[in-house]
Amino acid sequence: MGPLGKYYEDGHGYYFFPRLDGPISSRMMFNGKEKLVWSLNNYLGFANHPEVRKTDAEAAAKYGLAYQMGARMMSGQTKFHEQFEHEIAEFVGKESAYLLNYGYPGMVSIIDALVDRKDVIVYDSSAHACIIDGMRLHIGKRFVYPHNDMESLDKQLARATKIIEKTGGGILLITEGVYGMVGDLGDLKGMVELKKKYNFRILVDDAHGFGTMGAKGIGTGEELGVQDEVDIHFATFAKSFAGIGGFVASKRPIIKYLIYNMRSQVYAKSLPVAMTIGALKRLEILRNEPQHKEKLWTIVNALQKGLREGGFNIGKTKSPVTPVLFSGGLIEASNVTYELREKYNIFCTVVIYPVVPKGVIMLRLIPTAIHSLEDVEYTLDSFAKVKKDFDTGLFKDFRPMKLESF
Ligand SMILES: Cc1ncc(COP(=O)(O)O)c(C=O)c1O
Repeated sequence: MGPLGKYYEDGHGYYFFPRLDGPISSRMMFNGKEKLVWSLNNYLGFANHPEVRKTDAEAAAKYGLAYQMGARMMSGQTKFHEQFEHEIAEFVGKESAYLLNYGYPGMVSIIDALVDRKDVIVYDSSAHACIIDGMRLHIGKRFVYPHNDMESLDKQLARATKIIEKTGGGILLITEGVYGMVGDLGDLKGMVELKKKYNFRILVDDAHGFGTMGAKGIGTGEELGVQDEVDIHFATFAKSFAGIGGFVASKRPIIKYLIYNMRSQVYAKSLPVAMTIGALKRLEILRNEPQHKEKLWTIVNALQKGLREGGFNIGKTKSPVTPVLFSGGLIEASNVTYELREKYNIFCTVVIYPVVPKGVIMLRLIPTAIHSLEDVEYTLDSFAKVKKDFDTGLFKDFRPMKLESF
């Protein structure tokens, strides 16, 4: 059953594959009761924005969800796809961009297309699964460095340089902008500094940084002042944009090459036009309504400050992603989550080994623009009570759960 599937009998439907019912909101139904939800990447509240909802509905009514039929290269091209690409390239400060029908396979194919056997990939040990899967297709060398360890990265780039001097290939460095699990930022400045010493390109997966980071919401590159040095910028619509799809932006010749060579895009259906029109609306709102990002950060700052002051370990987050770290095993992890959900009606995601190291329990909170400061206050208060129970060892013993949904 695999590392998480082995918990199927005890956890399916509650800890894994939980069903949140009702419209997306800070309050949703779970296990028969309303919960305060901190687990949706609806950072800017776009899933609830009336203009977004209206545009999505009208576009779907007008075009249906099938249009345009086919892959972009064959018959799936529309003026809306082209318009979005034009606008997003300008927004993120790159020469050119291309829409992806889905983020994950998009990233897999970006990597697959960019490198061949002569090339070397250097990547961060905490890279997202889509980066790892892209790399699995690479038949040349790949070197990993411990998360954000610039000294080790320097060494790996030196090793990679020796190889490409022989093969005549290039080096692709792959990092996340915001690390989606724990919320810290890829050390893009440190990486850019190394460009003075080595010749390589940087590919940034900024799934969680797009819309949330930087003055305009361009992402982590903007936040850290190095957007021009991000050679290939990738983001998905699955988070801030509350949609489906994604994009890649770079210099014109690179995008020109990618659109003819990303297999998951060349051989698969294009992003439906209703979603493309929806993405255009989201981009317009991101550009013109800074209040959503401002509200997001008001909630983020209040939540993270309160947790820190309450003695919680929230790691090194510099983004909205808010991990709350406890030490313990599976039993404590399930009991603490159960208590939060059933006693305090707070729904957040629980992450255990092998996603985090053994002995670490991570409760992951995602603040959004649709939360209120009262939600934060209630959550901080509840977490303080749960922490007390945790520290007194209350969660160490197994307390059988009675779950109606099982
Ligand atoms: C860092 C990162 N990259 C890529 C993806 C995949 O994006 P999508 O959901 O659009 O396939 C995700 C998750 O959605 C992610 O967190």
